[in-house]
Amino acid sequence: MSEMTYAKGLEGVIAAESEICQIDGAEGKLYYRGYSIEELARYSSFEETTYLLLFEKLPSEEELADFSASMRRCRDLSPPIQDMIRQFPPAGSPMELLQSVISYLSSYVEHRIHHSDTCNCRQTLHQIAQMTTVLATHNRFREGEDYVESRPDLSHGANFFYQLRGAEPEPDEGDIFDKCLLMHAEHGFNASTFTARVVASTISTCYCSISAAVGALAGFLHGGANERVMNMVDEIGSKENIEPWLDKVLSEHRKVMGMGHRVYKARDPRATIMEGFLAELSRKKGDFRLYEFLKQFEESFRGRMEQKGKPIYANVDFFSGAVYTMLGIPRYLFTPIFAAARSAGWLAHILEQRKDNRIFRPRALFTGPAPRPYVPIEERSW
Ligand code: COA
Repeated sequence: MSEMTYAKGLEGVIAAESEICQIDGAEGKLYYRGYSIEELARYSSFEETTYLLLFEKLPSEEELADFSASMRRCRDLSPPIQDMIRQFPPAGSPMELLQSVISYLSSYVEHRIHHSDTCNCRQTLHQIAQMTTVLATHNRFREGEDYVESRPDLSHGANFFYQLRGAEPEPDEGDIFDKCLLMHAEHGFNASTFTARVVASTISTCYCSISAAVGALAGFLHGGANERVMNMVDEIGSKENIEPWLDKVLSEHRKVMGMGHRVYKARDPRATIMEGFLAELSRKKGDFRLYEFLKQFEESFRGRMEQKGKPIYANVDFFSGAVYTMLGIPRYLFTPIFAAARSAGWLAHILEQRKDNRIFRPRALFTGPAPRPYVPIEERSW
């Protein structure tokens, strides 16, 4: 048996090679296939970034037009899926709804699981295209509203609002949200992406892989921090309460949501872009209360952590919940929106896993009892 290493939670373990995402945690830099997140957020769209992730290059004009058209054709939900959403308990978790819908979508395709440029996972984009539609529809049905057909002339971000509200959003709202989706599309070997790759490594379908990844993201240690940042803002209430609140929370050694990151040891570059979006929305609405609150909070927190010799910076979730709030998105949809965006990265990783597959099979360090004889039930003293 070869020498084994043990790393709890696989921390520091390299489990595969990947060409998709590069994170420079020390410098606070993020690249998708070599393109910086700042440039992608400025010039690209969710659809183009999805193409980049899946096809390993930026598309030509014609390629992007074809790809966007095929994604837009896939957006609408068939009647059985609409029924499924209608019957879903209103108090049920939309993450579980997403898992169910993705599993159901699998029955619409003929699976040919092999790696090629034309493999059907690369061609059938309906699991990526329909996730935002599922969320918008779930919210409409909860509120007793009807299904809204998608609008093929709208970007992925703008169409979400159209299907959510039944009305076209302001151009900058659709644009900002599209960029938020792009910024959440990929982030290396985190728990949900690793889950997608583990399932893919068994040569299971991309639907099984993506629904498993949604399950991994549902846990609050992974998805969900932006929702909790907004809960924290509500709990603190006003700027005057920030200092006493931080005194209490830090003395109890509690974690402050939206701060810190396992990989970034500088400010998360997505937090900086999100902060810009929040400033833009605040300016437009003439309401800087949330923006000023978060800025004051960040400054107080950073000052305290620097004093302790532990510089901890804001991550993407610190501002994204506020951006979504300003865009009028219900809080319970924040984590499912993250899943809808990340589905592009998950699919890219599934395809990459298949290129040079080896099934994941780590070992456990056994700490249980030594071999012992079976005790018949009548002889058990316990
Ligand atoms: N609030 C208060 N203290 C924090 C903190 C936070 N958000 N993040 C880190 N710290 C503290 C740690 O407890 C640790 O203190 P110690 O040395 O006394 O043990 C120190 O700062 C260094 O932590 P570090 O090793 O850099 O972080 P980590 O890898 O243990 O944790 C997270 C990373 C993301 C799990 C953690 O920062 C966290 O829980 N953040 C809040 C949740 C969140 O926003 N998640 C979304 C991530 S995108």
